[in-house]
Amino acid sequence: MKKVIIALDGHSSCGKSTTAKRVAAQLGYAFIDTGAMYRAVSLYFHQQKINSSDTAEVEKALSQIHIRFVFNQQRGASDVYLNDLNVEEEIRKMYISQMVAQVSAIPAVRKAMVAQQQQMAKHRGVVMDGRDIGTQVFPDAEVKVFMTADTVIRAERRQKELLEKNELVDLEEIIENLKQRDLIDSTRSEGPLVQAKDAVLMDTSFMTLEEQVNFVLDLHQKAL
Ligand code: C5P
Repeated sequence: MKKVIIALDGHSSCGKSTTAKRVAAQLGYAFIDTGAMYRAVSLYFHQQKINSSDTAEVEKALSQIHIRFVFNQQRGASDVYLNDLNVEEEIRKMYISQMVAQVSAIPAVRKAMVAQQQQMAKHRGVVMDGRDIGTQVFPDAEVKVFMTADTVIRAERRQKELLEKNELVDLEEIIENLKQRDLIDSTRSEGPLVQAKDAVLMDTSFMTLEEQVNFVLDLHQKAL
């Protein structure tokens, strides 16, 4: 059977990863959460106190970072490993969300991550979610969706997710973080968050997860 690349880009916390994971499971495709990779880099920068404006220090740090996805049977999803340590839980915390957009805007960081992502999906049959997948990583992806949703609805979903992991964060703080990340992501010089010309817009504000998954599956079917 023909296998393709499905690129899901869009604003923060509008359900990209959840949708991507489901679509990948239904199609027997691999799922790659590129946001997790930028979060892992941010965690390393935080732990090693890397000075983001020092190009040599950033380059050296990047050469020491190894990111892998390892399937976790219990969760039924992949965990992110940073230099052989499972950092899945840590990278989802609010302090990482507060620094990740700045780290992701560094051109050397983008260059390194984009190269790894292109390598990971060499054989197609992949659902990849992020900000620049349909524009930079795989401009030739057969299916491209640009996802968005109302900011307050996104923040409420994010707050619920954090609460499930026992992190209580004020809704206003989350709204501010989402707006800030979207702004930095959309205005950076390298790989900014923009809707690819050939991407289909999906506003998930009032869509169920099932509707989102079916929307992408329909596009996939048409692309075969
Ligand atoms: O998808 P998630 O919200 O976990 O991504 C975290 C951050 O990583 C985003 O706010 C963005 O700054 C960065 N990112 C990126 N390019 C991608 C995926 C994520 O710059 N392809």
